[in-house]
Amino acid sequence: MSMRTLTIDGVEVVGTEGQSVLDVARANGIPIPTLCHLDGLPDVGSCRLCVVEVQPSGRLVPACMLPVEEGLEVVANSETLHAHRRQIIELLFTERNHVCAVCVANNDCELQDRAQELGITHLDLCPVSPKLGVDASHELFAVDHNRCILCMRCVRVCADVEGANTWGVSGRGIDARLVTDAGTPWGESTTCTSCGKCVQVCPTGALFAKGRSVAQAKAQRPYLPFLARTAGAAR
Ligand code: FES
Repeated sequence: MSMRTLTIDGVEVVGTEGQSVLDVARANGIPIPTLCHLDGLPDVGSCRLCVVEVQPSGRLVPACMLPVEEGLEVVANSETLHAHRRQIIELLFTERNHVCAVCVANNDCELQDRAQELGITHLDLCPVSPKLGVDASHELFAVDHNRCILCMRCVRVCADVEGANTWGVSGRGIDARLVTDAGTPWGESTTCTSCGKCVQVCPTGALFAKGRSVAQAKAQRPYLPFLARTAGAAR
């Protein structure tokens, strides 16, 4: 195992080849907020919340996608980075309809948690307020596109852990949408195994089990380390 010494926020830390800066920061108690990252799933760097500054250039790179290197020097926490992160969260809130007071995941939502941690009390940007649909065609689960932040956790857990490849993303930019079986209603999917892993890993109220009312969707947190071990064993 090849060791790498690097510096995060002025602290000298040691990681191993193949680890990301996020892995090493967390192992050393250095806080870096994340949304799309989930232990046990391959990172895709979609949310950009974990962005850090690589010195001396000041280049911004997501820590989850930045492999450790000998002599690497990064800043993970600064007022500028916190401002970037607040802006990312604000953009996520304005792009869709995250009205916590009427969400199944209220008080169990990672987007809500990150907003609170970053001290977001209001939105300066005007919400887009798109009219997006809810696919409730599945017998057990539903997807509310208004709550989706396109973190791709459901896509990755479905492909990398369950091996079903039911979930995907169609469209680009603000028109990007989660789809099942390339656009078939979820209830008519021929690949979905109804395992519910996608529902457990969703950080918001986008994917939820039917029969839940406001603030009743609770992700089974102990289930996540199990997923991580399963994914690790499968790779
Ligand atoms: Fe790194 Fe989302 S956690 S980009």
